[in-house]
Amino acid sequence: MCGIIGYVGKKRAAPIILECLKRLEYRGYDSAGIATINGGKLFLKKDKGFINDVILHTDLPSLPGQIGIGHTRWATHGVPSMRNAHPHTSCDEKIAVIHNGIIENYLDLKNDLLEKGHKFKSETDTEVFAHLIEENFKKKKNFESAVSDSLKKIHGAFAFVVLNADEPDKIIVARNNAPLIIGLGDGENFVASDIPAFLSETRRAVILENGEYAVIAKESAVVKEIKSSRVVKKQIQNIKWSAEAAEKGGYEYFALKEINEIPRATEDTLAALPEIEKIAHKVKKFMRNPRFRYPQTKFAVKKIIFVAAGTSYHAALIGKYLFENLCKIQCEAVLASEFSWSLANIVDKNTLIIAISQSGETADTLLALEDAKLRGAKVLAISNVIGSSITREADFNVHTNAGPEIAVIATKTFVTQLIVLYALAFYLAGKNPAPLKKIPALQAKTLSLITNIIKETAEKIKSAKDIYFLGRGISYPLILEGALKLKEISYIHAEGMPAGELKHGTLSLIEENVPVIFSLTPESHEKTISNMQEVKARSGFIIAITNEKDTSVKEHANIAIKVPEVENPLMYPLLQILPLQLLAYYTTVARGLSPDKPRHLAKSVTVE
Ligand code: AGP
Repeated sequence: MCGIIGYVGKKRAAPIILECLKRLEYRGYDSAGIATINGGKLFLKKDKGFINDVILHTDLPSLPGQIGIGHTRWATHGVPSMRNAHPHTSCDEKIAVIHNGIIENYLDLKNDLLEKGHKFKSETDTEVFAHLIEENFKKKKNFESAVSDSLKKIHGAFAFVVLNADEPDKIIVARNNAPLIIGLGDGENFVASDIPAFLSETRRAVILENGEYAVIAKESAVVKEIKSSRVVKKQIQNIKWSAEAAEKGGYEYFALKEINEIPRATEDTLAALPEIEKIAHKVKKFMRNPRFRYPQTKFAVKKIIFVAAGTSYHAALIGKYLFENLCKIQCEAVLASEFSWSLANIVDKNTLIIAISQSGETADTLLALEDAKLRGAKVLAISNVIGSSITREADFNVHTNAGPEIAVIATKTFVTQLIVLYALAFYLAGKNPAPLKKIPALQAKTLSLITNIIKETAEKIKSAKDIYFLGRGISYPLILEGALKLKEISYIHAEGMPAGELKHGTLSLIEENVPVIFSLTPESHEKTISNMQEVKARSGFIIAITNEKDTSVKEHANIAIKVPEVENPLMYPLLQILPLQLLAYYTTVARGLSPDKPRHLAKSVTVE
């Protein structure tokens, strides 16, 4: 939700901010803007639209000065428009603010400020912060205390970056439940909502924690506590991701690049098997603690609840399937936004929560796990971003080594989440996860086998109004993910459901040529073929995703897309996900749309 960047150094700020901002555009892209300071004066340009459009309309790179801030927006308060675009300024146009998050008490603050004579230019919650700082700055004439006093009045989630033309050598930043990372350069410093933004400039990073602010100048970055203004000693992290990993590398879109990176990402995640094993042992210890002993299972813990949103929730459903089948532990998988309404009531100290989140910043997931912790649960987090909020709240952490994922759709991160879940399930069940090591080569083979047939299939379905996705057993959550991917970027209505459920209602929607996509595994083959017959009898257009040894499928399907055989049928999702992701991608391209930045969406959803 919103990409933010700040730069102070010895080079011209605007072109640098612009480059960094483009790398953050996946976080929001309905408007963009930059503010800089030069000669004690604030300069600002902003407009509605993608960054490249805003450059055309406003000539953003021409802004002068060696200090500045930039923002790419995902609207929460106020429609996407020029006046609601960030940065927002104070009445005297000296203070500029960019923000990611939501100020919950903004209306009260705004009314107070209106009474004091402040004039507002936008409908956003963010603008109150600029006026609040202006009000406090009038009193003490000190930028830092004006910001820190103002921060104490704000309720809600925020990552703020602030400039003041009266103190033109520094940027002040603050964080509460929205990510903010400081990049330390040589005679220049950066701040951004995500590491890839400044990765081509520096790999030395300091992760700001909730309740902290920092004063950043070109030679220094001092972090302090918001409530006490006490200096906090921070650790400098050396980021291993390569800068190229955050570039398109010859692919037309990040989405395609990231799907093609899946074999490598899987391999990198598997390289951490020894760490996953250690975590599994720790979890086992927790589960075997006699205080938590539960007579029905060999594990002591009573409940495992997977909590996640969107694609990560589909990984959670697969996790539930694996843990129940391999480890014989009863589990629940719940959408994070629904957790506190239902399952939270049965959470106690005998519960293990497994929170899955690519970004580690999803507000729904974060709030669910905070709720669970208050009720005494232990939390295991699976995330792709080291140091993210969710990883800091968790008792145990497993990192997915997918590398930076820029396209809004989760592709390689989903697969690496699955790899971690398979490995955990194997270890917890006392089984050797060695068969997983064959997966990267099989994924690479799958990619080389299916691309042409996927492109042909995309042409056949690109004009459909509705597409149905069906599967049984472990194919069911997989197919939910296939449907989400397709609707997210192609804007075709797509619905996933258990294949056995079709006849209980949705079958009435199947008519001539309606595409229905089935996932088959050897275990579910026979019953799924019966469901295909139900669709065939209504003249639906059947696309089957199955394995290369399945010769009978051609009698039932219009198109059969085959992946290589795997040794354990439970592992088919690790290959079958590739045709589903590629189908979503090529259908979107065939419809003339951009798969990287689907309308209305943002990669990291830091609001409830
Ligand atoms: C995935 O393609 C989506 N963009 C979205 O559903 C995403 O998975 C969801 O918002 C959860 O994100 P997280 O994994 O970062 O928590």
